[in-house]
Amino acid sequence: MQQVSPVSFDASSRTFLLTTPATSYALRVGADDVPHHLHWGAPLTLDHASALPSYDGVVSSFASTGGEELGVEGGARFGVPSLLVRYADGARGVEWHYEGHEIEGSELRVRLRDRHYPLGCTLHYAVHEDSDVIERSLTLRHLGAADGDDTIEVLRCDAAAWSVPAASGVRLSHTVGQWSGETQLRRTEAPYAETVFTSRRGVSGHFANPWLMVDAGDADETGGEVWSMVLAWSGSWRITAQRDFTGAPFTVTGGAGHDGIGWRLRPGESHRTPVFAGQYSRGGFGATSRGWHAYIAAHVLPRPDEPRPVVYNSWEATGWNVTLAGQRALAERAAELGAELFVVDDGWFGARTDERAGLGDWHPAPERFPDGLGPLVDTIRGLGMRFGLWVEPEMTNPDSDLYREHPDWVLHMPHRRRTELRHQLVLNFARTDVTEWAFKWLDRLVATYAIDFLKWDMNRAFTEAGWPAGPDAERLWSDHTRGVYAVIDRLRAAHPHLRIEGCAGGGGRADLGMLARTDQTWISDNTDAADRIGIQHGYSQIYPARTMSAWATDSPNPYTGRTAPLRHRFHIAMAGALGIGGDLSRWSDAELAEARELVALYKEIRPVVQFGEQYRLDDAVQYRTDDRVVVIAWGRSRGLRLAGLSPTDIYTDEATGAEHHGATLLTHGLPLRLPKEDGPSAVVRLRRR
Ligand code: GLA
Repeated sequence: MQQVSPVSFDASSRTFLLTTPATSYALRVGADDVPHHLHWGAPLTLDHASALPSYDGVVSSFASTGGEELGVEGGARFGVPSLLVRYADGARGVEWHYEGHEIEGSELRVRLRDRHYPLGCTLHYAVHEDSDVIERSLTLRHLGAADGDDTIEVLRCDAAAWSVPAASGVRLSHTVGQWSGETQLRRTEAPYAETVFTSRRGVSGHFANPWLMVDAGDADETGGEVWSMVLAWSGSWRITAQRDFTGAPFTVTGGAGHDGIGWRLRPGESHRTPVFAGQYSRGGFGATSRGWHAYIAAHVLPRPDEPRPVVYNSWEATGWNVTLAGQRALAERAAELGAELFVVDDGWFGARTDERAGLGDWHPAPERFPDGLGPLVDTIRGLGMRFGLWVEPEMTNPDSDLYREHPDWVLHMPHRRRTELRHQLVLNFARTDVTEWAFKWLDRLVATYAIDFLKWDMNRAFTEAGWPAGPDAERLWSDHTRGVYAVIDRLRAAHPHLRIEGCAGGGGRADLGMLARTDQTWISDNTDAADRIGIQHGYSQIYPARTMSAWATDSPNPYTGRTAPLRHRFHIAMAGALGIGGDLSRWSDAELAEARELVALYKEIRPVVQFGEQYRLDDAVQYRTDDRVVVIAWGRSRGLRLAGLSPTDIYTDEATGAEHHGATLLTHGLPLRLPKEDGPSAVVRLRRR
């Protein structure tokens, strides 16, 4: 059989074809030297793609057909520009000249430059043999001599624009949210308009997550064409979708930064955007999500194959009241339950007895830990657990020694108030003196206590995002994020055993940029099982279960006041990387005994939940490996139809020994008898015979 190469090129029509296991993507450099989109969907050969009709250009004196690989400003273009620049003489826009391309294995680079101005641009495409995800990004280059002084102002530089064939309808799936209520899935018909999804907060945000799914309104969990795009970026961002009445392709352009931010590309300098990846699937939303989960495991996460440990975190139990005796007592109980890693949350350092003081002073609080954290760490390790610690490196309280010494290190503008949120200000991680300081104390802290795990938090949005002494202040919007990435990357390189949980007031920075350098995400401060079902559903659209930290906590829930059986709280948290966050000092012996059994059950199903394929069912979620199936169900008792099983095999219920035909599990469902209580739920384990 002939091997299909991942990237191929037909010189006569200047057509490129990207081939993934189940899809094709094609573009063509037209006679106008502009890269036009041709195809994204079912597999085509290079012959098919080369024979596709060409783009027609201008259709009237008021409209053009769109569908470019990267919309720019200039000529008869009226859509959303992915690239907006202004040259030193005041001219704007781009007139492309195609310079050439390189194909290196599974990567394609299309090189363009402006016909007159010293602007170079490379469109990057990369595919993988085990995924239908196509990674796209862009490099901008100032082609002037490095000693020149004519800069190019960059007003917008998206990573890529995706074109989706506009079929009978266009429906968008995305998430909305808020603090304590992140990743709420919404599906809505796209208006004939430009629809902007964005964060202007300096983090990817609680309010929208940087991804979009597009379908014709006919896809569901199990079938239908879905085009999806995910931006790998953790700072402010913008994704703009444009639906045109003229039948032009539906376009989605996205990248780092929000509207109104500008910066200058200096002579000799180049700028690489983050990746804006896309995936086409014919298997509906379920297969789309599984495609992203597999891609993230294979190509994004640093340690995909490591089982995520059962964490105990003391935040909900003690708040800022962190003491040696209190943490030790919790650690003893956590270890008895089977926790594998004990995380001391906020309140262990400086003058941090509430949210008003101490951020920036990263040494153990002297009156609470007179001998440092050593004695506590020894207890935790003695109990057989690993040790983790909460940090918030990008922040400082005005009431801290750090701020008193370096008031200029925070984001600020002359003649503007320094808006405090949660009594804190944002340290400017675009400054190398600040990132150097952060790396040094983190490196020392991790080394001193051989810390296994950091919860890296970020608890407020940017305001007055200025840098008066900075060379090009607005770059800090993206350079801050790059600074965070650089510190984490360096820390991981210096401490290969270190694992990191990303957090920003819950799920305020849950994205592929963070997942490329962290192991899991704290997806919400809301630990109420009923609310979590919706939050976890939204998170699962793109992100895999192994990255989803979820704790079983107290009842009534400290945030919502809602009560739920212990079993239910555990079952819902078992849908990801289970942790425990309750105040164990108040749990009865019976509760502790039940919790111990539930943790043991989780460890038993962990390989299936964390490494299996996930299927979202009606009021249930199913995970499947080759021969094992785990179902976590909530809601009403009835036959629950399973998915992805072999109809001809027999599946044995590991708890009861009952046998089920795959065919009937798929059609009539799993006979479920949920307990009659508020918050009924069950975990069912099946093994293929
Ligand atoms: C944020 C986090 C919480 C907790 C607190 C500590 O809100 O999301 O989990 O760590 O900070 O201040």
